Amino acid sequence: MEGATAPFYLPQGDECDVFAAAAENNLPLLLKGPTGCGKTRFVSHMAAKLGRPLYTVACHDDLSAADLIGRYLLKGGETVWVDGPLTRAVREGAICYLDEVVEARKDVTVVLHPLTDDRRILPIDRTGEELEAADGFMLVASYNPGYQNILKTLKPSTRQRFLSVAFDFPDAEREIDVVLRETGIDADRAKGLVRLANKLRALKGQDLEEGVSTRLIVYAATLVVQGMPIERAIEAAMIEPLTDDEDVKTGLLDLVTAVFG
Ligand SMILES: Nc1ncnc2c1ncn2[C@@H]1O[C@H](COP(=O)(O)OP(=O)(O)O)[C@@H](O)[C@H]1O
Ligand SMILES: [Mg+2]
Repeated sequence: MEGATAPFYLPQGDECDVFAAAAENNLPLLLKGPTGCGKTRFVSHMAAKLGRPLYTVACHDDLSAADLIGRYLLKGGETVWVDGPLTRAVREGAICYLDEVVEARKDVTVVLHPLTDDRRILPIDRTGEELEAADGFMLVASYNPGYQNILKTLKPSTRQRFLSVAFDFPDAEREIDVVLRETGIDADRAKGLVRLANKLRALKGQDLEEGVSTRLIVYAATLVVQGMPIERAIEAAMIEPLTDDEDVKTGLLDLVTAVFG
């Protein structure tokens, strides 16, 4: 039964083994890499394979410790304590995945520290509880080191509490495979889209801040399978999302013609 319903994930290397070993040994795991390269899919896949419940939190700059831990809420005239996703995962022995953890407010990382050392505890100040993490609890976090924002980076004191795995976009052969399996597009056009994506990625740092993600290639292929002409699908899924600059856009569209024309 285990793994029977795990969402499709094509490994890039030995990351599944590292995740399984981390889970087995109660070690927290940090996934580093650009957006849209498969980190979230990887975590859902591994959680299903290991048969553990998963709580995913998409972090943002307003996310506070209380959002993770829980808060008192008014319910029918009564004040009741409601666990946040982190507390639920700690109690149930689930995986808690903090997506883009650097986006969260500073008080969030403070909460993570006692959970990542060997005591594995979560103090809940508001209720006076001190929870010991149940067997199976695992903390997984992701961040994109590419943004190069000093204000938004993980402090070494936090980073060095996690095992880390670096992700990147898959090599062409694997990425074609992902696009094929995710969308059912034909092999020729999958190859063309991936070739184009790699040409666009080569422009990163010059005209473009970020390269095309695997996610965007999957979007383009989805539109094509649905019947949209490929040039229009590429424009909507792989060009417009990259830049707002008209000149840059025109240059990129020329590249499309070079690859598909
Ligand atoms: N290795 C992979 N195996 C399967 N699908 C992948 C893989 N890498 C990327 N994808 C596809 O790209 C999409 C975006 O991946 P996601 O995990 O959301 O990226 P991230 O969390 O790194 O931003 C997924 O929904 C899936 O369609
Ligand atoms: Mg993600």
